Amino acid sequence: MRRQPLVAGNWKMNGSLSANQALVAALLASRQGMEQVEIAVCVPYPYLDQVSRLVQGSWLALGAQDVSAHAAGAYTGEVAAGMLQDFACRYVIVGHSERRTLHAETDVLVSAKFAAVQGAGMVPVLCLGETLAEHQAGATLAVLFRQLDAVLAEHGVGAMTSCVLAYEPVWAIGTGLSASPGQAQEVHQALRRHVAALDEQVAAGLQIVYGGSVKADNAAQLFAQPDIDGGLIGGASLNAKDFLAICQAANY
Ligand code: 13P
Repeated sequence: MRRQPLVAGNWKMNGSLSANQALVAALLASRQGMEQVEIAVCVPYPYLDQVSRLVQGSWLALGAQDVSAHAAGAYTGEVAAGMLQDFACRYVIVGHSERRTLHAETDVLVSAKFAAVQGAGMVPVLCLGETLAEHQAGATLAVLFRQLDAVLAEHGVGAMTSCVLAYEPVWAIGTGLSASPGQAQEVHQALRRHVAALDEQVAAGLQIVYGGSVKADNAAQLFAQPDIDGGLIGGASLNAKDFLAICQAANY
């Protein structure tokens, strides 16, 4: 049995009050042909309030792009999981490669953020991905397992019952060079088997989505793979028509 597909837009550092209003309105007007898909938008912090109000009571879920590992206190510039929950976030991305690379986030820190999200009753979207150099060195699975094991070792396989894994090869993000459906399927299957070695039932129910240059024209082939349960979409999520076409492609 297939898991419920999830398509989440990661707006990254894009948007404005007026652009968000128009984009969300266009999404909310178009549920037809994607009824089976859970759809979310992960927006920049300042727009959580705006988008939370726009999607309230609708089928469109709200997410954030990062979180502090701390619950409260003297952490200037940080945002706590409890604050995200105040705005009815369902999903929080943790460990995006842009944070791992540009903000030097370690596996240990990402694991702490993962726990903070679950502790506040939300669903972490844990990003895993290898760089081009690691890919070319044949180290893909070693890197992904290291990133995933940091969470498994700290929080146990039970933590995988209420999270989403996102495989995002760093070399495919924003480059137009998506992993091929076969390449991505191989990695997703390996990730699922890695979790299955600890608990088969948890692994069978675990949503693993793919991110990295997913576009309207390659989404259907990616989502047709048995272990690809949807996508985490960057650039194409900023355009309603493109994002909706990707959501439709996940309506299997
Ligand atoms: P692109 O879809 O722009 O390649 O970005 C993917 C991504 O990083 C989503 O989190």
